[in-house]
Amino acid sequence: MIPTGCKAIDEILGGGMRVGGVTLIYGEAETGKTTLAMQCAVNCARQSFKTLFMDSDGSFSVRRLSQIASGYFEKVAQLIILMKPNNFSEQTLVMDRLADYVTKNFRLIVIDTIASLYSAKVAEAPRETFELNRELNRQMACLAQIAKTQKVAVLITSQVRSVFDKSYVSVEPVATRVLKFWADVIIAMKCTENPRVIKAVLEKNPKGAKPLTCYLEMGESGIR
Ligand SMILES: Nc1ncnc2c1ncn2[C@@H]1O[C@H](COP(=O)(O)OP(=O)(O)OP(=O)(O)O)[C@@H](O)[C@H]1O
Ligand SMILES: [Mg+2]
Repeated sequence: MIPTGCKAIDEILGGGMRVGGVTLIYGEAETGKTTLAMQCAVNCARQSFKTLFMDSDGSFSVRRLSQIASGYFEKVAQLIILMKPNNFSEQTLVMDRLADYVTKNFRLIVIDTIASLYSAKVAEAPRETFELNRELNRQMACLAQIAKTQKVAVLITSQVRSVFDKSYVSVEPVATRVLKFWADVIIAMKCTENPRVIKAVLEKNPKGAKPLTCYLEMGESGIR
């Protein structure tokens, strides 16, 4: 298990993110998706295992990592392998080589966020949407497979898009069907009136329990 560092979420998940499974964290901007992913990478490093962190958003901040890792920064920094694909084709290339990169000391793969480069490519070439969606699905299948064969936990994050349904508006992860299909655990992060407080809803969990809600506080050293 790799603890997220949020007691409530870890308790519900029975200790944290399970090796061999795929966890999806989705939510609007600034709801702490990257922070939570970094916390998992830090906790993985504290167990002396490596993380492959794919920063597809280009938002990875070393300063934020040092706040979260605190006194463990030197050790943690050496165990996080950062990759920064510039476009969806580069993301595809990394996915194709994932089994070569993720050697036996790795316990965690983070893709933050999985669909940002996909969305950029869809906007650029809307006629290729079907092929691109199929490629995203293939990438998710690769990740699910590697989680099992290499015994690592996979954490993917996704931003949301609004869905208009008659009288109300809701949000869903980008490419929702593909992402939700492959995820064993789904956590939705929602804003509240207080910018320091995030509402986390565990929509799907391995035990198949009903959705559970908890409130998290965003602070200097991460989310608690
Ligand atoms: N040192 C800090 N102390 C307190 N809060 C912080 C600190 N650094 C960042 N934050 C807060 O963290 C939040 C951003 O978190 P994060 O980047 O993890 O969100 P995100 O969901 O990944 O956003 P995006 O969708 O834009 O990638 C912001 O609300 C910001 O105010
Ligand atoms: Mg982010």
